[in-house]
Amino acid sequence: QPAGETSGILAGKRVLITAGGTREPLDPVRFLGNKSSGKQGVALVEAALAAGADVTLIHAPMDVPAPAGAKLQPIETALELRAATLAAAATADVVIMAAAVADFRPANISTGKIKKRDNTDDPVITLVRNPDILLELVAHRAAQNQQQFIVGFAAETGDEQADARTYAQAKLQRKGCDLLVVNEVGPGDSGSERVFGQDTNQVEILALDGAEPVQTGGSKREVANAVVHLIAQRLGGR
Ligand code: CTP
Ligand code: CA
Repeated sequence: QPAGETSGILAGKRVLITAGGTREPLDPVRFLGNKSSGKQGVALVEAALAAGADVTLIHAPMDVPAPAGAKLQPIETALELRAATLAAAATADVVIMAAAVADFRPANISTGKIKKRDNTDDPVITLVRNPDILLELVAHRAAQNQQQFIVGFAAETGDEQADARTYAQAKLQRKGCDLLVVNEVGPGDSGSERVFGQDTNQVEILALDGAEPVQTGGSKREVANAVVHLIAQRLGGR
């Protein structure tokens, strides 16, 4: 267990972590969701606890149990995540946004179950944009001139126009968070899924202060330890 590597380095720090994939309801029994397993978020909680931090986990549904030792706050939708996160961030030294937040939600939630017989034409779901919680956290910090340290996560794919790293650098600048932990998603060389639901991860950690990107991989716990180390390093320098 690489737990010892981070022992005590965040002692006394209040760390807020979000994890899991939000669920956006369509009706009482259906939702729009995503593939996030919550495993990387849970690994971050364990690494932060091992580092001596006081940890709060705000989590959407996850494939893995929430770890003991953190204060837990379950939520489902992006709007619930936003309310809980902005409230808890007020007293956090570090915020890590590992949750996979739905960018859009259905414009209308049907109070009754949507029925086949009411839809002779194929139904169309209208979506509206969810607020960007990470952007709000950064804006809020700037407004209050706090010393809060903010970490974002991003799953990127490259395309004909640019590679994943270029998109990630642009995202870091756009979001204005201190660190952006980036993984390239989608099928790996062998054609199987590289990130979602897996126990390992390969990431590049970009820093707003212009430090060289840190590449790390291995178990999600090892990635979490690397993130915790970078956070402790930056907090120590303040
Ligand atoms: N995030 C957030 N609120 C949202 C969407 C994303 O706080 N409504 C956070 C995620 O938790 C993550 C970071 O922003 O830490 C980057 O998420 P990502 O989905 O990669 O970024 P987007 O700005 O939504 O861009 P994209 O169009 O690539 O999805
Ligand atoms: Ca998104």
